[in-house]
Amino acid sequence: MIAPGPILLLGAPGVGKGTQAKELVRLWGIPQISTGDILRANVAQGTALGKTAKGIMHRGELVPDSLVNEMVAVRLQEPDTARGYILDGFPRTLAQAHWLDGRLAATACCEPAQSLPLVAVSIQVDYNQLLRRISGRRNCPVCQTIYNIYSKPPQRAGFCDVEGAALTQRADDTEKAFAERMRAYAAQTTPVIEHYRELGRFTEVSGDGPIAVVAAGIVKAVERLRE
Ligand code: AP5
Repeated sequence: MIAPGPILLLGAPGVGKGTQAKELVRLWGIPQISTGDILRANVAQGTALGKTAKGIMHRGELVPDSLVNEMVAVRLQEPDTARGYILDGFPRTLAQAHWLDGRLAATACCEPAQSLPLVAVSIQVDYNQLLRRISGRRNCPVCQTIYNIYSKPPQRAGFCDVEGAALTQRADDTEKAFAERMRAYAAQTTPVIEHYRELGRFTEVSGDGPIAVVAAGIVKAVERLRE
């Protein structure tokens, strides 16, 4: 098996980053670091960070770089990141990308798996598919399993297969917030994709098709980028 090292999953809101990150976690045994999930946990717990982030996230805007970078810095110190990790939803601005590049360069000497070069995979699906994925998404508040009423429904409508908990819809999965998230993505995250394209060790994969097929495409892409 390849040493996974740091992997970036990039792509528009609802493209399937979280779904695919969970597939890779199962395969490679490295953690998913989702800045969206960490922020939502802070909102749910009512921390100072959560209080700052709540309104910003509901509107579909981006949380300030300094807060997000600090959150990621703390998470990357956890021992489970030693063999690598999957960054899902980070970096999303050029300032975050430059911060991450700097951190990886600074820690390359002392954290062996993290000294592997970062590889970046951008997942692509068309706008109508994104809208359908966002409007159909439901989440388990207990185990965070991601469902979709159209493409991945639970066995019993409205309830998690694993926990039996009532499924919830994200507060930012409204058409209005989605439009703002797409605007933020086009303005602030597209330059991040271009940044990693220029650095190399970057590829695009189709996110259209069954989850397992998309996952196989990502695994192949990462293996190729690691050669
Ligand atoms: P975040 O949680 O990162 O949201 P996002 O990037 O908009 O992405 P999503 O989580 O909506 O989608 P996804 O690509 O993970 O898709 P999923 O796998 O769930 O961020 C939320 C907010 O937090 C931001 O707007 C911002 O405010 C803040 N934030 C987060 N990170 C930040 C940062 N770095 N800087 C600043 N602010 C930040 O799939 C979607 C649906 O599609 C699911 O229902 C799934 O079942 C379905 N699906 C998945 N794959 C398939 C498939 N192959 N076929 C059919 N259906 C599929």
